[in-house]
Amino acid sequence: MASKSFARTLRAASKQKVPSGTFQRSFSSALAARPAVAAQPKAALAAPVQQQSRGIKTIDFAGTKETVYEREDWPREKLHEYFKNDTLALIGYGSQGHGQGLNLRDNGLNVIVGVRKNGASWKEAEQDGWIPGKNLFEVDEAISKGSIIMNLLSDAAQSETWPAIKPQLTKGKTLYFSHGFSPVFKNLTKVDVPTDIDVILVAPKGSGRTVRSLFREGRGINSSVAVFQDVTGKAEEKAVALGVAVGSGYLYKTTFEKEVFSDLYGERGCLMGGIHGMFLAQYEVLRERGHSPSEAFNETVEEATQSLYPLIGANGMDWMYAACSTTARRGAIDWSSKFKDTLKPVFNELYDSVKDGSETQRSLDYNSQPNYRELYEKEMQEIRDLEIWRAGKAVRYVILHASIVTRTMLTLPTAPSAPRTTK
Ligand SMILES: NC(=O)c1ccc[n+]([C@@H]2O[C@H](COP(=O)([O-])OP(=O)(O)OC[C@H]3O[C@@H](n4cnc5c(N)ncnc54)[C@H](OP(=O)(O)O)[C@@H]3O)[C@@H](O)[C@H]2O)c1
Repeated sequence: MASKSFARTLRAASKQKVPSGTFQRSFSSALAARPAVAAQPKAALAAPVQQQSRGIKTIDFAGTKETVYEREDWPREKLHEYFKNDTLALIGYGSQGHGQGLNLRDNGLNVIVGVRKNGASWKEAEQDGWIPGKNLFEVDEAISKGSIIMNLLSDAAQSETWPAIKPQLTKGKTLYFSHGFSPVFKNLTKVDVPTDIDVILVAPKGSGRTVRSLFREGRGINSSVAVFQDVTGKAEEKAVALGVAVGSGYLYKTTFEKEVFSDLYGERGCLMGGIHGMFLAQYEVLRERGHSPSEAFNETVEEATQSLYPLIGANGMDWMYAACSTTARRGAIDWSSKFKDTLKPVFNELYDSVKDGSETQRSLDYNSQPNYRELYEKEMQEIRDLEIWRAGKAVRYVILHASIVTRTMLTLPTAPSAPRTTK
């Protein structure tokens, strides 16, 4: 379906991106800087900022007013002053621990890491320059030294280790999470937080690797920010400051419950599970109806991820529609309502499964198994072995190694090696 103008459109859109190494635009100026396209309804860009004080804004999101915090209000010097008496003890050094920990360190804050000695994370932390005995400790020691305890263990591990961690969370400390999972589902996780400490959340809307890479580019990730328990009267301010310190650009105010419900729902739906299911269904039908792997892959994944989805991300669904042919537009608009009506009951079933704790229980049970890493690896291998993703590797390979394109590729590659050619 691809219109030849997509590449041009995408290039034009990407030129509008924030130059790397800078992060100077305010939220409103970022909105105003969106590319003007004839088909873009002007009303959608009408100034949404209703009221603002420096760094805090009430934004009208399509008729609903919400609070957004900006990192503009927390320059590095102010962060240093704010946390001058604190030791940030970051427990766990997986995806988020790595990203948030390095950002805190680069921001010049007093941060230490607590992980199991000689586990995979300990080694990774050492490789990242954390020094045993100086700013790298075992979990208990880190907690004892910390005033703000940032629990970035995996969610299953938070539950598993809680009986040991809870008694160390004494009055005056602050407990920080990056997911509402543990305290919200406390009947399942058993994470019942002490009643005399602040409990806060900053949940980056992206992987820890992205938290780090955006920070290094001088940009910031969007994060949710919430307060579960405010004992000092300063919990929200502390959460926002920490959110900026770990690398957030904008912080959207929510509750622990809303964060965990939307997060579990979203990742099982459009973000990961739903989109994978839809890719597979479309690909399989194309293959069953006689299309080649490359055609099925290009028409299902490649064009989506390389051309159309970035357009939606940059400027919205209407903008993407407007950039396509009238043939494509007519069919897409007609079929979108059929897909919506068919899928909505599935999304409701999913939301119920999140809300009643079924998803939490499943996650705790599965991820607490001693061999969970191997079990996941087996499933990843099964996904890697699916024809669609092997075809995808060949397509990527063709793009990356254009000189090989002239040779006929009849055999699909076996992941993860490069595709085999028959000549
Ligand atoms: N990943 C994301 O994209 C993302 C995004 C937003 C929020 N979050 C949230 O951030 C938090 C951390 O997630 P993550 O993805 O960074 O976790 P992760 O990568 O799975 O990290 C796991 C960490 O937990 C440690 N760990 C596992 N089992 C343990 C045990 N029994 N005792 C002690 N340590 C144990 C691991 O240490 P070893 O190496 O020693 O096993 C590792 O340091 C979670 O609440 C998650 O929901 C994650």
